[in-house]
Amino acid sequence: MLEKCYKIENNVRHFDFTTCLKYLNFLGKKTYGNSFQIQLSDKETLFKLISFAVGAEEDCNSLGLDLKKGILLLGPVGCGKTTLMNIFNDFVYPHQRYQVKSTREIASEFHKEGYEVIHKYGRREKAFCLDDLGVEQNIKHFGNECNTIGEIILHRYDLHVNYGILTHATTNLNAEELEKLYGNRVRSRLRSMFNLISFPMETKDKRK
Ligand SMILES: Nc1ncnc2c1ncn2[C@@H]1O[C@H](COP(=O)(O)OP(=O)(O)OP(=O)(O)O)[C@@H](O)[C@H]1O
Ligand SMILES: [Mg+2]
Repeated sequence: MLEKCYKIENNVRHFDFTTCLKYLNFLGKKTYGNSFQIQLSDKETLFKLISFAVGAEEDCNSLGLDLKKGILLLGPVGCGKTTLMNIFNDFVYPHQRYQVKSTREIASEFHKEGYEVIHKYGRREKAFCLDDLGVEQNIKHFGNECNTIGEIILHRYDLHVNYGILTHATTNLNAEELEKLYGNRVRSRLRSMFNLISFPMETKDKRK
């Protein structure tokens, strides 16, 4: 289906943004029901995400997106980050697929399974979208959850550098807050492993 999002002109593939939006809308409705509707106010963010997903080099270059890095999707509560990363997983080419995993779940697995969890999410066989960086800080039964996720990010960074494996993530913290939460070692790696794509601060909560 993604193939339909291209037009071939003079033997060059150009992706067609309007067709891509229709396809996204179709996937959204299929998964989340008829209330799912692509919103005009999200167009700019979607243009970046789609350019990245279809690997449109020229567009990505002019948008400052590096196809060799993952996506860190930032935005206010309820703007649709998790929903979009789930939909995009069906949208991208099969070899680009990833598992969306919330940091809250990872934190609770850490309580049950211990340090094995860091290896589980740090292995090279699998691509992940770490959903909701920062929420794990609210679940501190014992141990420090921020360190667990921070350690996983460090492992994923090594995979990025050594094998070119991409990791994606979402968060409603801003870059500064993230850097403060995860500390120096993670801070210096965030920018080199992620393209930052932000929803505008004024984006409305779609839960309302
Ligand atoms: N384009 C859309 N049209 C209609 N509903 C949507 C759309 N995008 C998301 N939603 C709905 O809005 C709600 C919030 O979406 P989602 O959980 O993806 O937001 P989020 O940015 O991940 O929020 P949080 O910061 O709390 O994690 C969900 O119930 C989702 O189904
Ligand atoms: Mg979310």
